[in-house]
Amino acid sequence: MSNLNILGISGSLRKQSRNSGLLRKVAELVPENISFSIADLQQVPFYNADIPADGKPEAVLKIFDQMAKADAFIFACPEYNYSLAPALKNIIDWASRQPDNALLAGKPVAIMGAGGGMGTARSQYHLRQVCVFVDLYPLNKPEFFSSAFSESYNEDGDLVDEHKIEQIKEIINALARWSKTLAVK
Ligand SMILES: Cc1cc2nc3c(=O)[nH]c(=O)nc-3n(C[C@H](O)[C@H](O)[C@H](O)COP(=O)(O)O)c2cc1C
Repeated sequence: MSNLNILGISGSLRKQSRNSGLLRKVAELVPENISFSIADLQQVPFYNADIPADGKPEAVLKIFDQMAKADAFIFACPEYNYSLAPALKNIIDWASRQPDNALLAGKPVAIMGAGGGMGTARSQYHLRQVCVFVDLYPLNKPEFFSSAFSESYNEDGDLVDEHKIEQIKEIINALARWSKTLAVK
């Protein structure tokens, strides 16, 4: 029986996304006692406070439901112009306006990314700053930075580098331990 439910969210919408590839690798690697699903951001519009509470788009409601069930998150964080990609920020913004911030508050999150020269370090540290306000608890270590333009990924965006795959395993284990420490599970 699964005792930890993790939701993965990738900030990239493109088919060959390396960041989404990281989450697909997580899905392959999670042990049986962890349930892992991936949010679909394709149809999520920009947050707009004029959208009434009873008029939220289906795509947003589906992710809210996944978030409500999630004990923990994994964010795959592309770097756009030195910061986190808008699709990821946008779903965090949507979630943060739910009553009592209940979808996010107090939950652990592991962060990873694939990008240019610094492997998304800059965007990940911006994301960590966002986590402060929305009261998410990022895993400090291990960190995961990778080059989206290297042979670590195949052309479909799948992670194929054995050393990096080991790092993903370590992150999954560390997130499970961090979730226990926070008494989420
Ligand atoms: C609008 C835009 C801005 C970008 N800015 C950066 C950047 O500041 N730093 C960086 O490392 N890569 C940057 N990149 C390159 C992305 O890291 C690269 O396209 C990466 O593959 C995106 O992740 P994905 O494969 O998951 O889509 C940028 C890409 C786009 C489309």
